[in-house]
Amino acid sequence: MGERDVGFVSLSKTSGETKARGPELGIGLLGCAFMGKAHTNAYKKIPYIFWPPPATPRLVTICGIPEEAVVEAASRYGYEKSTTDWTELVADEDVQLFDNVGPNSLHAEPCIAAAKAGKHVLSEKPLARNADEARRMWKAVEEAGVKHMCGFNYRFVAAIRLAKEMIEAGEVGEVYHFRANYLQEWIMDPQFPWVWRLDKETSGSGALGDLGAHIIDLSRFLVGDPASVSAVTATFIKERPDATGNGTRRVDVDDAFGAVVQFENGAVGSYEASRFCGGRKNHMTFEVNGSKASIAFDLERLNELQISAVRNGRGEGFRTLSVTESDHPFYEVWWPHGHVLGWEHAHIHELHHMLDAIANDKEIAPYGATFEDGYKCAVICDAILASAEQGSKAVIRY
Ligand SMILES: NC(=O)c1ccc[n+]([C@@H]2O[C@H](COP(=O)([O-])OP(=O)(O)OC[C@H]3O[C@@H](n4cnc5c(N)ncnc54)[C@H](O)[C@@H]3O)[C@@H](O)[C@H]2O)c1
Repeated sequence: MGERDVGFVSLSKTSGETKARGPELGIGLLGCAFMGKAHTNAYKKIPYIFWPPPATPRLVTICGIPEEAVVEAASRYGYEKSTTDWTELVADEDVQLFDNVGPNSLHAEPCIAAAKAGKHVLSEKPLARNADEARRMWKAVEEAGVKHMCGFNYRFVAAIRLAKEMIEAGEVGEVYHFRANYLQEWIMDPQFPWVWRLDKETSGSGALGDLGAHIIDLSRFLVGDPASVSAVTATFIKERPDATGNGTRRVDVDDAFGAVVQFENGAVGSYEASRFCGGRKNHMTFEVNGSKASIAFDLERLNELQISAVRNGRGEGFRTLSVTESDHPFYEVWWPHGHVLGWEHAHIHELHHMLDAIANDKEIAPYGATFEDGYKCAVICDAILASAEQGSKAVIRY
């Protein structure tokens, strides 16, 4: 193995660049909680991890409610300004990239307004509460001619990108199956209070849009577009205590769903997502079975792929590949092999991809998800809900 392959040695090399060459890009972030922290963390790390960076993010304005939360976030993360009013953020002339990490009901109007104001737009997933809303967003960014990306960050996990490259290179052969689960446990306690993720008006759907959207996007990324779905949904706990301690509030979204899916290319598979799986903290797994190999992935072991080659019609048994070599996706900027990456890194890779697309006029697709991908995912989510409600198979029309 040559010197270039081993981070223990190659990390001591210099690039000859002593200045960040790319432009400064003003960031306006809508949302200052979970994803606000994850995205800000990425913006702060990109300029020195990717050297020289394609652009240097300037943390201009952060927006959130209540005021004390956003003031604290601005100070903690180093944003120049804070506001509780997203229209101010969208109008801010110092902002070139509008990054929407607000609740799902706050994706469409701010993203459309930002695109109309000529800003590049990134929106967290699910792109919108339903396909009609997502389509309006997609059309608005296309019309404005700005770069647009939907925050399907798992496309940027090194092992998942490698799985994509292996499938594209024909190493898996003809794909017969894709099956995926996204399982969590955090609302199993009936006394866990009502939150926005349990409200259809704010979130659009429950486990489906929150977790299912990720595995649906991965199925499209890895295998292709679904043609039909047959689904069931369930809401196990229909009333929850209000967070203020006064009374209860109705849960009107799915706590779990399952769907059988047929892909346009003939592959068949399944999706399942739930927040009622005791012992499963953030258990996102998928398996692809093809004529030449099977590939399996588990987010809680995200630096690994399980691969079983198929020879003479027989699987050789799964072996574990450590996806940490310097020639594996994204690893050239990180650590020596075996010095593993975590959940946060996919966000860093994702936002780097967005900055690179803006600064160097590159395409977001096919490795990043565009608003068109966000729209197609919303069409599939709508079809899953329709199938469950009608008790019949739903044919998907994009
Ligand atoms: N890609 C991922 O891995 C991932 C993970 C979690 C959440 N998400 C998505 O990110 C988005 C945000 O989720 P989260 O977990 O960060 O939610 P959160 O509840 O932690 O944060 C939501 C933020 O929105 C702000 N907000 C709410 N209403 C507002 C208003 N009217 N005006 C201004 N700000 C307002 C809140 O102040 C808060 O900072 C959702 O769309 C969610 O689906 C993606």
